[in-house]
Amino acid sequence: MNRIVLATRNKHKTEEIKTILKDLRLEILTLNDFPDVPVLKEEGSTFRENSLQKAHAVHLYTKIPALADDSGLEVFFLNGRPGVISARYAGDGATDEENNEKLLGQMRGVAPRRRGAQFRAVLTLFGDNGTEVTEGICPGRLAELPRGTNGFGYDPIFIPDGFSRTYAELTAEEKNLISHRARALAAMRQVLRER
Ligand code: IMP
Repeated sequence: MNRIVLATRNKHKTEEIKTILKDLRLEILTLNDFPDVPVLKEEGSTFRENSLQKAHAVHLYTKIPALADDSGLEVFFLNGRPGVISARYAGDGATDEENNEKLLGQMRGVAPRRRGAQFRAVLTLFGDNGTEVTEGICPGRLAELPRGTNGFGYDPIFIPDGFSRTYAELTAEEKNLISHRARALAAMRQVLRER
């Protein structure tokens, strides 16, 4: 069976990617299978750069095709922030709660029609057969207060278009049908099939 390695240590991302790709005949390894791979730096200024850097580094190290996900939340009122620094918006090592609190604090009093935001995921597959990049966006808006306990990151404060519930109030199945990651993976699935 063909194998790929996910260039992430984020267990939530891993679980979502594995679930969405479960029907492919593909063995999906993670960095837990390669504990010696050093922690990957994310110093790029775009999702695309970071995604490519992660996939490249992990492929060099493992010698098998690597799939990287770089993703985050873009808030229009904040000119696209937190964006590439979503994971560390409230500082290095910040918890999801701290990041959500900082963001909601900056959005306090901002009217509903100006709370538009989108999640973006950029996936890179890096292997001996070349590099493929796909992207997925999920449009929505920011909630006033966190709601729900499913998922991770900014899930409790993001309401995808077409729903009144936050990502964290959706079931995993519901989120995996419409999420930014699911959309990027729908495009990548074709590439994985062909390879
Ligand atoms: P990365 O590891 O640099 O790609 O950081 C991604 C960060 O973006 C995560 O730590 C979360 O804060 C946020 N993020 C990405 N995807 C999601 C999602 O599906 N739900 C909630 N937050 C997400």
